[in-house]
Amino acid sequence: MENPQHGLPAPPPLGAAALPSGTYAGQVVLVTGGGTGLGKAVATEFARLGADLLIAGRRPEQLQAARDELAAVPGAGRVSAAVCDIRDPERVAEVFDAAQAALGLPDVLVNNAAANFPSPAEDLSPNAWRAVVDITLTGTWFMTREFGRRHLAAGTPGSIVNIGASYAWTGGPGFAHSAAAKAGVKNLVETLAVEWGPYGIQINGLVPGLFPHADMTADIRGGLEHAAPGAKDARQPALRVGVPRELGWAATFLASPYARFVTGHTLVVDGANWQRRTVVSPEVVPVREQLGRGPFTARPDAPRP
Ligand code: HXC
Repeated sequence: MENPQHGLPAPPPLGAAALPSGTYAGQVVLVTGGGTGLGKAVATEFARLGADLLIAGRRPEQLQAARDELAAVPGAGRVSAAVCDIRDPERVAEVFDAAQAALGLPDVLVNNAAANFPSPAEDLSPNAWRAVVDITLTGTWFMTREFGRRHLAAGTPGSIVNIGASYAWTGGPGFAHSAAAKAGVKNLVETLAVEWGPYGIQINGLVPGLFPHADMTADIRGGLEHAAPGAKDARQPALRVGVPRELGWAATFLASPYARFVTGHTLVVDGANWQRRTVVSPEVVPVREQLGRGPFTARPDAPRP
């Protein structure tokens, strides 16, 4: 099939499921940050495949709206929502207790919740650093730990998908806090796949590329001018940006029985955008200037002590 927009192969029709219907029937899937953005897109694909869903997040109104939306997805199982700041390990345990009572111990955990904003590294306050690292890395760990401990104690298998970022490999100028945290999230995947593999716990990472969605903040949107999902973008090797469902397809595959032998892997779904820098050498503009903070005087020849 040809994509009339770019003359490239088109993605599968959006009405189709990537996996057989009912793949997740009878399974409980917990998605953090599932009330908005890509978390909600991922939760939607699990719902379409019959999962019982629990979405967790910090903002009750958004969670409630998303809960109603997800419950209306054709094929969806039961849908619950829990207010949870994943930085609080006691609250995390309570959410698992409530999930277990209402739906059963989650079979799948999608660690999607993350915090982020751009900043020159030198301007990050200790609290700004902590806000991002505590949510993105430590919160992910608290969720993962709770999920792992409960499955290990019960002797049941489970699958974890950690949403990551490609700057876990490359570094992320302007995002030192988030890039360091996402590198930690990726490393947890590699460690725990081995440590918990013998107990039937599978863990993979999933990295989104540019997936415009309605909840994207202006800060994160940055230079992403093409706000429509799937919009043409000549800077991308795929000549377009992503459609959020494409991330959901990958997540539902990774946690499915069809990917049981895939573990400890981080899959990048970005049309090879992150590899682009290996063939193009863009001019280096200091982060301060990109963010309009004004330059420091560069003194590369200054004497070193
Ligand atoms: C500078 C900021 C800031 C900003 C917060 N801070 N926002 N500093 N620029 N835009 C600082 C505050 O001044 C404060 O430091 C500290 O961070 C904590 O702020 P709070 O508002 O008290 O914290 P909290 O409400 O816990 O969290 C704020 C937040 C969070 C971190 C901004 O609300 C958030 O992340 N929202 C966006 C969620 C999001 O978009 N997630 C998607 C991530 S995408 P001081 O010193 O003043 O006390 C992703 C991958 C992207 O992760 C990859 C491609 C780019």
